[in-house]
Order: sequence, then structure tokens, then C-alpha cells
Amino acid sequence: MTAEILDRDMMDATGSVVPARREAAARGATLARLVLTDFRSYARAEFSFDGRPVTLTGDNGAGKTNLLEAISLLSPGRGLRGVPYADLARAQGAGGWAVAAALETRWGPLRIGTGIEPHKAETARSRAVRIDGEAATGSGALADHLRIVWLTPAMDRLFVEAAGERRRFLDRIVMGFDPAHGRRANAYERALRERNRLLADNVREPGWLSGLEEQMAEHGVALAAARVETVARLKGAFEVATQGAFPRAAITIAGTLEADLAEHAAVEVEDRFLRRLAETRARDAAAGRSLEGPHRSDLLVRHAAKDQEARLCSTGEQKALLIGIALANARLLAARGHPPLLLLDEVAAHLDETRRAALFDEIVELGLQAFMTGTDRALFTAFGSRAQGFCVERSTATPLDD
Ligand SMILES: Nc1ncnc2c1ncn2[C@@H]1O[C@H](COP(=O)(O)OP(=O)(O)OP(=O)(O)O)[C@@H](O)[C@H]1O
Ligand SMILES: [Mg+2]
Repeated sequence: MTAEILDRDMMDATGSVVPARREAAARGATLARLVLTDFRSYARAEFSFDGRPVTLTGDNGAGKTNLLEAISLLSPGRGLRGVPYADLARAQGAGGWAVAAALETRWGPLRIGTGIEPHKAETARSRAVRIDGEAATGSGALADHLRIVWLTPAMDRLFVEAAGERRRFLDRIVMGFDPAHGRRANAYERALRERNRLLADNVREPGWLSGLEEQMAEHGVALAAARVETVARLKGAFEVATQGAFPRAAITIAGTLEADLAEHAAVEVEDRFLRRLAETRARDAAAGRSLEGPHRSDLLVRHAAKDQEARLCSTGEQKALLIGIALANARLLAARGHPPLLLLDEVAAHLDETRRAALFDEIVELGLQAFMTGTDRALFTAFGSRAQGFCVERSTATPLDD
């Protein structure tokens, strides 16, 4: 949905904004019901959520992360573990899996379903997606309906890993503001792979190569521009809001096109990249891959108060920086009428009591439907009745008394 449609939707016939509709828009979409079938450890499970933040507590192996992963598949891509779709099918099941959800959105209820049929599971590279009963082509369509932001223990390594993980992290954030970003990234990747293949096969048919390079230039510059814009937005969000208990991150993006965009108009950057691609064919053929372009960009993060690179910060400081970025992202999305679902896997356990309380307060203040896991109920005491609690045990979830 474009911002334009959103604005039109909130206006009455005279063009003035209807307060009740604006209020509904500010709430965004919430997850009301979730049904899992043969998903990971869940044979079949149903959950009802009332819109408050959700806490999931239970022992190791109880099924907490599996549940967050199921929710994460209501957004484009492979979900929060990023694994092949076949792994998601319950080992003891028939080979397929399904996640069905009922959302409450500003336009009323919406049903979303995704999964893989048993006979397709072995070879499946894509999953089926249905939105209000209609089949969608690809998981990208999900970005139009729901924003999901997550933090997982695996992301603790984000700042010390190779650039690719950080680039994907940034691109997910960009997609929250611009759902077309994912489709453009796929189109760019396809053209890139095809160029690499032609160069490897020594196909020097100029028309063929330049056609692909034109696509790379067009989509590549759009990707870089959307990243630059998002980084600027995040910077702005860090400047206006007091980050409370979480450190402010100073973020920049390192990439040839992104840097070029700071000095030249987009059309010019596109022309320059196109020329560069033509010039570097022999070099890239020798290297076996394309050495320049937005597929090589990196997200650089510094701890602003300490003026230190994030990768040199302590584990706890890195975690706090990540939470700060996730909250800034959520705040920005909420301000645009798309408060995200926030999936926080094992985040509470790593925070001291003050930070934990500050995180809960921020979640409640932003009206976010956060899903948080932990092994100990006591971690979430500071929520009081502001959250909906579940006890997860052997892949069944029982609501806790408020
Ligand atoms: N495809 C699958 N089929 C069946 N069981 C699976 C599948 N994938 C994972 N599991 C199992 O699901 C169980 C729950 O995993 P999950 O990661 O949700 O646990 P958790 O509650 O998050 O535990 P922890 O506190 O250790 O993080 C594990 O025992 C895991 O081995
Ligand atoms: Mg877990």
C-alpha cells in the first residue's frame, strides 16, 4: 500500500482527515490468531493474541523460537533463521508445513497463509502465499501488509561478521519503508548472476551483456538510493528521540554507488555505473564475479557516545546497539502508520533490570505487538498486566493468568 492510498483512506469526501481513521492507522496491523500445521516441533497449534505485547516463557527446546520463526514467515524471505524451507517441516510429519494468520488491519480483518505442500517440500525454493484467499506470486507481496522487525541471538555476531549479513540487515529495514526494495534487490541479483555466468562462460556477445548491465545499473542505483534514504531516516530518528537506556548508533553506509549518490544526480550515477560495468568485464571475468556494485556495500555502525566501532564494543554493548536500532526502526515505522510486529528472541535475559524495564516501557508506549521469549517468567514481571503471557511447554502454549 502506498502512502498515498493510506492518506486517501483516512480522508473523508471533503479531503479532511477523519480522526478515528487516523487512530486506526496508527495502530497498524496486529496478529490476532495464528495456526501452525506441521511447522517444526508443532503438529498443530492455535494461538489467540489480544494486541498487547506477548511473552513466551518455557524451558530450552519448548518451542519458543519456532513460534517466533513461524510469525517471521508472515514477511518476505526465509524467516528469522534464514534456513531452507524444507527444514521447517515437522520431522515426523508428511513433509509440508503451513502457517495461517488472521490480522486486524486498518482496513479490517485480513487472512494470510503461507507454506509448502508435502509433495513439493523436497525441492521447494519458494513457498505458497495466500492473501485473503488469493494466491500471491512470491513472498514479496507480504511486505504490503505487515512489517516485522526481529532480533535473534544469531544476530549478536552481526557486527563482527562479513558485510553480507549487515547488508541484508539494512535491506530488511529498507523494505519496511519501501516494499518494492525486495523486488528490486531480486531483479538486481538475477541480472548480476546472469552477467557472472556469461563472463564465466566467456560469452562476450556485447548486446547480451549490456542488456544485463543496464538492468544492474537501473536496479542497482534504486537500491543504493533507497538505502541512503533509510540510513538518513534512522539518523534522524536517533537525533530526535532520547534513546533512554539504549546507546545511540552512528550509522553510515559504505558503497560505491551510495557514495556517488551523495555527489551526483541518480541518472548520472546510473550512467557512470553502466560505463564502469562495461569497462570491467575482463577484470570481473578473471575474478569470477562482479567486483563492484551495491551487492558489495556494507553498513557501518559506531557506538556514538563512546565513538567506537560496533565490532570493537563488548557483547552487551553490541546487543544494546542492536536493540537501539530496532527501536528506532520501529518508532519510524509507527510514525508512518506501520508499527511493526517486534520479535525479540532471548533479548530480555541479556539486559539488566533497568534496561529491561526501559525496553518494556518503550514497547508499550509505541503500542507495539512485541513477541518476546525467555526461559524465566520473572524476566517479564515489569510488564505487569501490560503484556499477554504464555507458558510454552513441549510445543503447546498455555495462556498465563494476568
Ligand atoms: N523440523 C523440525 N521437526 C521437529 N522438531 C523440530 C524441527 N526443527 C526443530 N525442532 C525441535 O523443536 C524444538 C523446539 O525448538 P525451539 O528452537 O523453538 O526451542 P526454544 O523453546 O526456543 O528453546 P531455547 O530456549 O533453547 O532457545 C527443539 O527440540 C528442536 O529440536
Ligand atoms: Mg530459542
